[in-house]
Amino acid sequence: MGSTEKKQLIINAFAMHSPSHLNPGLFRYPADKGADYKNIKHWMALAQKLEKAKFHAIFFADVLGGYDVYRGPANLDPTIPAGAQFPINDPLYSIPAMAAVTESIGFGVTASTTYDAPYALARRFSTVDHLSNGRIGWNIVTSYLDSAARNFGLDTQVEHDERYRIADEYLDVTYKLWEASWRDDAVEWKQSDATPNGAVEGQRYADPRGVRQINHKGKYFQVPGPHLCEPSPQRTPFLLQAGTSTAGKAFAAKHAEAVFLHAQKPELVRPSVDSIRQQAADLGRNPRDIKIVAGALVVVAETDEAAQAKFDNFKKYGDTEGALALFGGWTGYDLSTYTDDQDFRFVEQPAVRSMVNHWASTVPGTEGKKWDKKTIAEYLTLGGNGVKIIGSVSTVADELERWVDVGDVDGFNLSYATIDETFDDIIELLLPELQRRGLFWSDYAVKGGTFRENMYGKQGQSRLPDAHQGAKFFWKQGEEVPPYSLTESQQ
Ligand SMILES: Cc1cc2nc3c(=O)[nH]c(=O)nc-3n(C[C@H](O)[C@H](O)[C@H](O)COP(=O)(O)O)c2cc1C
Repeated sequence: MGSTEKKQLIINAFAMHSPSHLNPGLFRYPADKGADYKNIKHWMALAQKLEKAKFHAIFFADVLGGYDVYRGPANLDPTIPAGAQFPINDPLYSIPAMAAVTESIGFGVTASTTYDAPYALARRFSTVDHLSNGRIGWNIVTSYLDSAARNFGLDTQVEHDERYRIADEYLDVTYKLWEASWRDDAVEWKQSDATPNGAVEGQRYADPRGVRQINHKGKYFQVPGPHLCEPSPQRTPFLLQAGTSTAGKAFAAKHAEAVFLHAQKPELVRPSVDSIRQQAADLGRNPRDIKIVAGALVVVAETDEAAQAKFDNFKKYGDTEGALALFGGWTGYDLSTYTDDQDFRFVEQPAVRSMVNHWASTVPGTEGKKWDKKTIAEYLTLGGNGVKIIGSVSTVADELERWVDVGDVDGFNLSYATIDETFDDIIELLLPELQRRGLFWSDYAVKGGTFRENMYGKQGQSRLPDAHQGAKFFWKQGEEVPPYSLTESQQ
């Protein structure tokens, strides 16, 4: 990229298969389509709309349990009326339908390394990679809800850093299944080989010497293989990750091709961004091959005042109990045990105190305000813990540019106050301005290409880059076995 050329932003839509995602209660807003989450036509139409506007991807968050900490333990009463990420459907099933009515937009789907067997997960993602023509991405999470742990047969969650150690071995298993179980040219049969009289005798579907067991025997997983699916366009899905603890950053530097961050200010994400890129470089990767995408809620209108009025109107539909339930699930702390006038800037619990002080010092318009339950709930009702950028087209575009310049982020994961209206406003007002400023592409880099080709902006980049950890497992044409297997001590 020349020094005068501006960085091209990655723009994703952030969604969930639930009545509300980061907007508890907003299904009550008259135009909101949150409750349509179970209607496949809703998702197909949204995918088409976002593709027409050239969004890079739709990114689906997902959780495997209810937010039951607030007024708990194990109480979903405040969560259920708000539709606060509950009920929630599995996002993966909607992807083939969305892929069938689009050709270039990518699909990021969250799946957990803590509760799902790698053999089964690898198969599901290969299946969808085939059916979407290489447009699936995996948002790798280690999960955070005790309610999920209990439903998967554990008393409580696996310890935080241990979850990342499990995830690291998990990725090795999936790389072996995706990259090293089937040789690139193992499949011999093409549909065009068929003749009116049937197959020529002896023609094979695949070469048995091109399909091998992986025989993974590790600390956490035993997986003999082979992988059930033949090689899909990307093999390994495009890898996304969210999580910025020390263990999370190390994991991202090794495995992630895109990292999601949440913060209030670009100055505050910069140290994490620099650390992830530096750790990636130390591992021999191109630090620019990790795309950093910040979560943001953008409410844009013709003027700053109109945007603020829109935001204030959305807030009226918010569900404060639902917001406090989300807080409880994210942090593990039940604010119902405190009085209504407790100012959490001064609470004894250090984790809550530091989080609330962080908000108090960074959230615009809250200077001098008491951070009691009501303030916390109001703050989390729209856009969760991500930055909220509210204003006219130029105000919002200036602020996004500042995030790029100061935070060194590569793009944004845009959540919604209300679906589809928030995306409609972005499409109608914001994206044309970003295009005018030379910050956003006018078309996909690789039309009809894979998710990875479009995220790297490079035709032919459907597979992991050579310097990526997963590329060590490639089994290429002409090789009797994948090279990693000759040195693998665990074989
Ligand atoms: C922007 C963002 C989006 C996330 N989305 C999900 C999600 O959809 N599902 C999930 O289980 N965890 C999600 N997480 C949680 C992380 O995957 C991770 O479990 C959490 O941040 C704790 O990891 P850490 O301590 O390394 O930050 C998300 C985190 C961030 C910052």
